[in-house]
Amino acid sequence: QELQMNLEQIEKGGYDHFMMKEIYEQPSVIKDTYRGRLHSNEGLIKMAGIEDNLEKFTNAQRILIIACGTSWHAGLVAEYVFEEFTRIPVEVEYASEFRYRNPIINEKDVVIAISQSGETADTLAAIKLAKEKGAFVFGVCNVVGSSISRESHAGAYTHAGPEIGVASTKAFTTQITVLTMIALRLAQAKGTLSKSDFHRYLSELEAIPEKVEEALKTNEVAKEIASVYKDATNCLYLGRGYNFPVALEGALKLKEISYIHAEGYPAAEMKHGPIALIDEQMPVVVIAPKQGHYDKVVSNVQEIKSRSGKIIAIVTKGDEQVRNLADHVIEIPETSDALSPLLTTIPLQLLSYHIAVMRGCNVDQPRNLAKSVTVE
Ligand code: G6P
Repeated sequence: QELQMNLEQIEKGGYDHFMMKEIYEQPSVIKDTYRGRLHSNEGLIKMAGIEDNLEKFTNAQRILIIACGTSWHAGLVAEYVFEEFTRIPVEVEYASEFRYRNPIINEKDVVIAISQSGETADTLAAIKLAKEKGAFVFGVCNVVGSSISRESHAGAYTHAGPEIGVASTKAFTTQITVLTMIALRLAQAKGTLSKSDFHRYLSELEAIPEKVEEALKTNEVAKEIASVYKDATNCLYLGRGYNFPVALEGALKLKEISYIHAEGYPAAEMKHGPIALIDEQMPVVVIAPKQGHYDKVVSNVQEIKSRSGKIIAIVTKGDEQVRNLADHVIEIPETSDALSPLLTTIPLQLLSYHIAVMRGCNVDQPRNLAKSVTVE
């Protein structure tokens, strides 16, 4: 018994929970994910699975992304990144919906399946269907040799290492890293990004681990904020553009591990419903980095404030405008809009973690949830 306990302590690497260990691993696993693939000095991205199938991607009429859960959120971020960088139309679908609705798929479609475990039943079934219809299937998995990685025509692994916490953290950011590299490589091949932008993104992506490290320093602030809102019954997450999927993921993290009802919304959709919920009891997490739709998000923040909602804002370091309006701010380093999800996600993971711990929840193994859902 005692030996077992010690073993688990060792596995957690000094952290109280696997989730926290995995959150803190992100700087190094993001690096592991781009190591050997991203060569910023030479202006190259080399990924075997992409190089071997480059024409399939560059000739794709459409990219269809299928996934479940957090991986689906990574797919949504990828949709924004792919369309912006490569100008290839992208659709993102829940695997469970895709497989049962007689979807239109043809040979000029490239299907990207995203799965941490590589074992999710719905995603696996969706891949089989896409293959039957003649699509080229590319897997983005974390677990090496998993069913989805074997069932795909080609793929790229995230090198996040084993993820034990049921709530996905490092798998999400490494999925975004892989997908961003793919988008950059395709943009280079298609000439849809200027050379200077391409090079700028390579160096910015290379700098992300350091910035994630910095974003992790918000842990104490996140903990303080958590202590204020730990008894909330609802929470709203708002973001726009690249950070709309981050709002969804932030809300998912909170509900998964703390059992607080949380919803993510594109900030501008607030006026079509969620604004009715806002009162002094309602914490609203607003993702408002300097780049990308900043002014629009600021006006959403004003709307929340005038209804006495409590504002927790994720802002770029040095921000003044939102700071003056918000009840709490969490600062993250600056990066370009397209890469910002890799940073804005971090404080949201920390916030959920601390709230769940303070509520006495089983952070690593939340009730009713499984790490890998191998049945329908
Ligand atoms: C389960 C897990 C989630 C995960 C989802 C998809 O619900 O609890 O963390 O995002 O499955 O799993 P996959 O392994 O396909 O990414």
